[in-house]
Amino acid sequence: MVAKIIDGNAVAKQVRAEYRTRVEGLVALGCKPGLAVILVGDNPASKVYVDKKAKACAEVGLHSEVYRFPADVHQDVIIAEIAKLNADPSIHGILVQLPLPPHFQIRQVLETISHEKDVDGFHLYNVGGLVVGGIVFPPCTPYGVQRLLESENISVAGQNVVVVGASNIVGKPMALMLMQSEATVVICHAKTRDLAQFTILADILVVAAGVPNLILPQMVKTGAVVIDVGINRLPNGRLVGDVDFEGVKKKASYITPVPGGVGPMTVTMLVVNTVQSAERMLERTKGLAPQPSQVTVLA
Ligand code: GUN
Repeated sequence: MVAKIIDGNAVAKQVRAEYRTRVEGLVALGCKPGLAVILVGDNPASKVYVDKKAKACAEVGLHSEVYRFPADVHQDVIIAEIAKLNADPSIHGILVQLPLPPHFQIRQVLETISHEKDVDGFHLYNVGGLVVGGIVFPPCTPYGVQRLLESENISVAGQNVVVVGASNIVGKPMALMLMQSEATVVICHAKTRDLAQFTILADILVVAAGVPNLILPQMVKTGAVVIDVGINRLPNGRLVGDVDFEGVKKKASYITPVPGGVGPMTVTMLVVNTVQSAERMLERTKGLAPQPSQVTVLA
């Protein structure tokens, strides 16, 4: 068996085209969606991600602003900036790029963002909404994985799904979303003993551990769907995921590449959440109800 490679760039392009039309509709109603990104310090990877986010906004017709601060900025300065953005009607999404420098209390910063503008889905209100199946901003990376599975008509209901990695950004929300879609979910993490005994059972394997070559062919069931969320830079400069792509693609039915798999979707779903935020804001202020398909209901 040779796996079908799921082309994240192609799906991202399709979603962006769809949302460009929706943005045109919003602009015609006098509402241009706006995203504000706060970047603290000079982490090279964060700078690349923030540039990609701004570029994706421009491509879909959104307004975006990037606020850059030195690594030694006081947390109160960032909190004050967020408070200003919370009150700014031209901004529908606020994102603080992570990681933050060690002197920050990340939860305190994230809880300052209005949950109605929390397009990352990291505010406790949105995290809680995800747990109980409410209307939320789904975190962008798991949301992108969900969209990739949909693009191939891969149903998760009743499937054994193994998520490797239990981070707040990817693993935990991914598991909740899959559970909401009626999958049987196992979460593995750094302390899991004998990872292979779990991964071999997976009909769908989602890997977000940040460890190159963690998943080898003998750990994967023949015909499994393998989604690689890892992005690792090797000493030789090559970008790889967490999965031995060449080996596993001979055994899986579907596989995502790195780069060009989940990465483009993460950025795209941030745009999607920002547009949804603008639509919800318009609904609240002008009583213009979005169509049912425009509302994310994870129930
Ligand atoms: N750092 C790595 N991934 C993310 C993300 O999805 N959002 C934010 N804000 N920071 C990140």
